[in-house]
Amino acid sequence: MKKLDGQIVIITGGAQGIGEGICRVFCNEGATVFLWDVLEDGQKTANNISSNGGNIFFQKVDVTSQYFVDSAVENIIKNHGKIDVLINNAGIIRDRSILKMTREEWDMVQSVNVDSLFITTKAVLPHMKAANYGRIISASSINAFQGAFGQTNYSASKAAIVGFTHSLCREVGKYNITVNAVAPGFIKSEMTDSMPEEIIKAGIAQIPVGRIGTPDDMAHAYLFLASKEAGFVSGHTLHANGGAMPI
Ligand SMILES: NC(=O)c1ccc[n+]([C@@H]2O[C@H](COP(=O)([O-])OP(=O)(O)OC[C@H]3O[C@@H](n4cnc5c(N)ncnc54)[C@H](O)[C@@H]3O)[C@@H](O)[C@H]2O)c1
Repeated sequence: MKKLDGQIVIITGGAQGIGEGICRVFCNEGATVFLWDVLEDGQKTANNISSNGGNIFFQKVDVTSQYFVDSAVENIIKNHGKIDVLINNAGIIRDRSILKMTREEWDMVQSVNVDSLFITTKAVLPHMKAANYGRIISASSINAFQGAFGQTNYSASKAAIVGFTHSLCREVGKYNITVNAVAPGFIKSEMTDSMPEEIIKAGIAQIPVGRIGTPDDMAHAYLFLASKEAGFVSGHTLHANGGAMPI
C-alpha cells in the first residue's frame, strides 16, 4: 500500500522546480495528480511523469483567476468526485530594493503568492468539507522568517501565508481538514541555477547539512503533511532548510 493510493491531489506551479518534484514523488506514492501551471511546459512535465507510470493530468490554470480555478475544480469533481489534497506551491519573485520597487512589482507578488490561496481554497474547501477530509499545504519560505535584501514584497507574501495557515486551520479542523505550510531554504531550481558560482558556494556554507536542498527533499516534506498519518499536525510550518535557520 502506497502512502497516497486513491488520493486526488492538486499541485499548483507543478511545471518545474519544487512543484515538479512534488508531482513526481506524489505520483510514485499512488496519487492521481492534477498539475496546474501557466506554463505550457506543464504538459511536457506531465507526459514525462506519466511515461514513468504516474497518473497525472496537466490543466493550464492561472491561480490568480477565480474563473480558471473554479472551472478546473469542477472538471476534477465531475470526473473524480473529490479532492483530497491541495498543494499551493505556485509562487513568483520580483526582487528589487524597496526604493526602486514599483507598485506593480509589489502587487504581482501578492497576487500570485497570497491572493491565489484565497482563490484556490474557496474553490476546493466546499468539496473537502463535504467529504469530511482534506489536506491544504502552502509554500512559505525561509525568507518569511529571516528576510532578504530586495525581497520586501516576497518576504511579506510568504509571511502572510503563515498567518493564513494559522487562521484557516482553526476554521476547518472540525471537518478533518489540516492546513500547514512548508518553508523551503536554499533549494536547487531554475532560479538558483542562474546564480554565480560564488554566491551558491556562500549560500551552501550557511547550511549545516553542507549541501543545497533539492526538489525531492521538499517533496518528502510535503508528502508527510499530505499523508493521512499527519492528521494531528495542523497550523504548522515545516522548516526544510538543512538547519540554515534553526527555529
Ligand atoms: N527555490 C527555492 O529556493 C525556494 C525557497 C523558498 C521558497 N520557495 C517557494 O517554493 C515554491 C516553488 O519554488 P520554485 O523554486 O520551484 O519556483 P519556480 O519558479 O521554479 O516554479 C514556480 C512555478 O509556479 C508557476 N506559476 C507562477 N505563476 C503562476 C500562476 N499565476 N498560476 C499558476 N502557476 C504559476 C510557474 O510557471 C512555475 O512553474 C514557490 O512558491 C517559491 O516561492 C522556493
